[in-house]
Amino acid sequence: MIFDAKIIDLPKILDKRGNLSFIEEENHVPFKIERSFWIYDVPGGESRGGHAYKTSEEFIVALSGSFDVVLDDGKEKKTFHLNRSYYGLYVPKMIWREMNNFSTNSLALVLSSTMYDEGDYIRDYNIFRSYK
Ligand code: TYD
Repeated sequence: MIFDAKIIDLPKILDKRGNLSFIEEENHVPFKIERSFWIYDVPGGESRGGHAYKTSEEFIVALSGSFDVVLDDGKEKKTFHLNRSYYGLYVPKMIWREMNNFSTNSLALVLSSTMYDEGDYIRDYNIFRSYK
């Protein structure tokens, strides 16, 4: 399962006036985008996440700065360091994830395949393991 998580390169239009990248649903991300949110102003040493989704898939981009995304499929853990705005990390459903090591002024954009639904979260690691 963890091997279904992958870095996806985005288009990068180089320009001396400044570079441009973009994301199209079902083209650069393998799902229909139902929701976008972003994480910012993270104090030093804090972590976000610490849960899995039953059905949501996500695509995470470091629009600014850097952070780590630690994925865990119940058997294996893998850490992805995101620090560029021209690629992102695709996270399938049913993967435990944590985001940490946020740099100062980092900005994490998250695209999700579903609307927000607290019922889609698994927030207890032991329950996650039992689902798996
Ligand atoms: P949560 O997903 O638990 O944050 P993180 O995984 O980054 O630690 O969300 C934190 C709070 O924000 C929680 O009370 C639910 C709310 N929330 C929304 O209302 N809509 C959203 O799209 C998201 C992602 C969170």
